[in-house]
Amino acid sequence: MNSDMVNLARIGKPSPPCVMVIFGVAGDLTRRKLLPALYHLAHHRLLSPDFAILGVGHKAMNTDTFRKQVRAELPQMAPGAVDPALLDELLGRVHYLAGEFDDPGVYEALRSRLAELDLTENTRGNYFYYLATGPDHFANIVERLHIAGLTRQDEGWRRVIVEKPFGSGLESAKALNRRLQEFLEESQIYRIDHYLGKETVQNILAFRFANGIFEPLWNRQYIDHVQISVAETVGVEQRGNYYDHSGALRDMVPNHLMQLVSLIAMEPPISFQADAVRDEQAKAIRAIQPLAAERVLTDTVRGQYGESSTGGQWVSGYRQEPRVDPESSTETFAAMKLHLDNWRWADVPFYLRTGKRLQARNTHIVIQFRRAPFVLFRDTPVEDLSPNQLVLHIQPEEGMSLRFAAKRPGPVMRLGTVDMDFEYGATFGQVPSTGYERLLHDCMMGDATLFQRSDMVEAGWGVVQTILDVWKAIPAKFPNYQAGSWGPKESAALLERDGRCWRDFPC
Ligand code: BG6
Repeated sequence: MNSDMVNLARIGKPSPPCVMVIFGVAGDLTRRKLLPALYHLAHHRLLSPDFAILGVGHKAMNTDTFRKQVRAELPQMAPGAVDPALLDELLGRVHYLAGEFDDPGVYEALRSRLAELDLTENTRGNYFYYLATGPDHFANIVERLHIAGLTRQDEGWRRVIVEKPFGSGLESAKALNRRLQEFLEESQIYRIDHYLGKETVQNILAFRFANGIFEPLWNRQYIDHVQISVAETVGVEQRGNYYDHSGALRDMVPNHLMQLVSLIAMEPPISFQADAVRDEQAKAIRAIQPLAAERVLTDTVRGQYGESSTGGQWVSGYRQEPRVDPESSTETFAAMKLHLDNWRWADVPFYLRTGKRLQARNTHIVIQFRRAPFVLFRDTPVEDLSPNQLVLHIQPEEGMSLRFAAKRPGPVMRLGTVDMDFEYGATFGQVPSTGYERLLHDCMMGDATLFQRSDMVEAGWGVVQTILDVWKAIPAKFPNYQAGSWGPKESAALLERDGRCWRDFPC
């Protein structure tokens, strides 16, 4: 059986017996995403009957109180209906261990609790550790697990899921990789990027490589440019503390946006095996031309939102957000023009944009094709005709649309632009999901395809490092866009200069 067949054969199969150890179990991520995702996996019968969850947190609680808390919270957090009987069944597998992550005693206690679970729940020494903690704890937790003998794979498999942020720049990402690799094999490290858990993101691979009609057009000969927008309407909410040290560029670009660029730009992999796919993704990210310092000045845009009171509703500016420095120079908007140095994409700009407090929540990828030669329509009014666009709608709309020209009905030859739409929900129905279900299940199955490898993470940081350096060296005049707008005017100008415009900001 080849590896693709192995991959296909396991789709829909329950996980092997194992324990999921969650560090940071009392945090938001666990409550909002991880536990609801596990509930959905239980609902789809994708968890082994010999599966257990062991939460480690610093709150003084025991298993009973933790179960009560989850029973009360999960129905509010999980998208879709929750069946009380199934929830009870899941809760029966949930356990709690109180302690500080830097206390060696906790890892001793963890070892005995895991040994107990191996006996009582028959989990067979297979453990995976989810680091849902602040990034400062990542390497220390792994080191302590290693010292306690809990990363050795002689009795079962041992894996570690590492959340973002993975470093705060190229050097710190490399240093974190080195530290993790001191204690773990690369194949034990699952660096999560929740964008890869989104159905519509996974669909990019299916769309490109399971259809014969688009791939022949997927290159510089037919494509004029690519736009990737991740626009959010929310501000920084309660995360001012983290965000003010991060900013839009670090928070979104080396990870989520690079994943999207790589899936759009990669060459077809030789199989859907983890390393075959990730080799091609890594190559695509490495092909991105590093921006020289002077290009950062012309080809990137940063912004920070200021207050707004449009429509009679007052919205605070970034500097007034809780736990944000009132003179902060952190950007909440970033846009850039990148080029890939390879035969497929030479001279095809990739425009990237992300920001908070923008006019609409909208994540999409636009593939804009070159204009048709209009010779045939020499005598018809076609100046306004839009070029063909293929739009992959990631969220909140999920689907695709193809824009093309059509003859308007009537006795004269007049053209109009129309969109042919495909909506995920309308075609396949909605399956309640947090986006973490597939990723957790994949980790249990040992499939790392949708996780980032060390070289991908470093390549992503490599792209943005000069931008970080130049932006740090040259202070910006902030705030420079109004909450609820489409970002600073320079963002529109970045494309207008090239005779182009953002799809939702027509020029
Ligand atoms: C997170 C960022 O990784 O992604 C947040 O830290 C951002 O700042 C979020 O809001 C966006 O995710 P999604 O799934 O809502 O697009």
